[in-house]
Amino acid sequence: MARKPGGVVVLDFGAINAQMAAKAIRQLNVYCEVLPYTAGVERIQALQPKALVYQRGTACGERTLGRDVPTATAALGLPVLDLKDADCDSATLKAFLVGKCGLKQDWTTEAFIAETVEDLRAQIGDKKVLLAMSGGVDSSVCAALLHRAVGKQLTCVFVDHGCMRKDEPRQIAEVFRDGFGINLISVDAEGRFLEKLKGVVDPEQKRKIIGEEFIRVFEEEARKLGELDYFVQGTVYPDIIESGWEGGKAVKAHHNVGGLPERIDFKGIVEPVKYLFKDEVRQVGEALGIPAVITNRQPFPGPGLAVRCLGELTKEKLDILRDADAIFREAMDAEGWAAKANQFFAVLTNVQSVGVTNDARTYGYVICLRAVQTLDFMTAKVVPLPIDFLTRVAGEIATRVPGVNRVAYDITNKPPATIEWE
Ligand code: XMP
Repeated sequence: MARKPGGVVVLDFGAINAQMAAKAIRQLNVYCEVLPYTAGVERIQALQPKALVYQRGTACGERTLGRDVPTATAALGLPVLDLKDADCDSATLKAFLVGKCGLKQDWTTEAFIAETVEDLRAQIGDKKVLLAMSGGVDSSVCAALLHRAVGKQLTCVFVDHGCMRKDEPRQIAEVFRDGFGINLISVDAEGRFLEKLKGVVDPEQKRKIIGEEFIRVFEEEARKLGELDYFVQGTVYPDIIESGWEGGKAVKAHHNVGGLPERIDFKGIVEPVKYLFKDEVRQVGEALGIPAVITNRQPFPGPGLAVRCLGELTKEKLDILRDADAIFREAMDAEGWAAKANQFFAVLTNVQSVGVTNDARTYGYVICLRAVQTLDFMTAKVVPLPIDFLTRVAGEIATRVPGVNRVAYDITNKPPATIEWE
């Protein structure tokens, strides 16, 4: 969608932060794409670039990768900027791209929206489109773009698997059905999922059951809608860049809930944000009027609270977790910590401990809070939340949420821990 010829190609020579130059170039409102250094001259040429940027690693001794590439690409006769991670600052890039190559700074959010809406109309015509709405940033922005392009030809289906956070299903309906006027079908499938998950304690088994059941519910809803032509996928640019190394098809990480239903025949796939980085998806969302609670939403795993509610899933445990998580999130927002964490949440440990309330002994669950800072979710550092803030939140959770009498804070970085507990 809205791919622009005449931009810049960044050749990635395996740099540590390979996407840094591309993001910095786009922040100058110049369109660019990233290709691996192994791409070959033809793939570069197909994008009709006006300039090349080599993004080389500095710290991992990769300096020798692709030694023959500059000679091969010289045949294209394009101006080249050879960057190391350290010097991909905005001034250097601007001097080269705008000053030397005369590139236009016209890659703006508004231009992207206008061009994408036009492209979507051309691709879809008068056909029908189906979107699996998760309430995450990518599917939300896709929904708003498609709604602007084809209005009521779009139907969104949101499946509530019972493992959403507090108020999320209601919020999704309010924003998209009531606010935007999108055809949104919300399916309350909590009972059905919990029935399937009865007695299951293995995390991978939980993921598998939720993933499969999700597809089944989704397919049933889709079948009720009659003929559908296109299916929307919220692929984003990093998915494409990563698959570019293998020349393969982009696959969403973790085979996320919301994958392609297998037993429905679609004419085609629509991927409106596949050339955007996550921050750009957020900007487009803001420009389309999606509220900040959604555009700033942190990543939420497809299986949702299922991987944060340890052991067997029951409605009682999930409700306890939802309430504790909501109190933590509210406090993080209210006291300015939310902006300093990339992901934060509560976990219901399967441990129960003794406590005391109004002079009576209690036996309740231990909730563990987690907040991490991370750039890529591959490694993560614990957010050093102040002890008085944590003590206050712990007190609030243990007094306001029946069934909880103890709260801990996870102080383990990734590695050795993972971000999620399961
Ligand atoms: P871990 O726990 O592996 O998490 O450090 C890294 C990132 O991946 C998310 N995550 C998932 N996302 N389905 C998803 O869609 C999953 O099964 C899943 N497991 C982990 C996690 O929230 C973090 O952002």
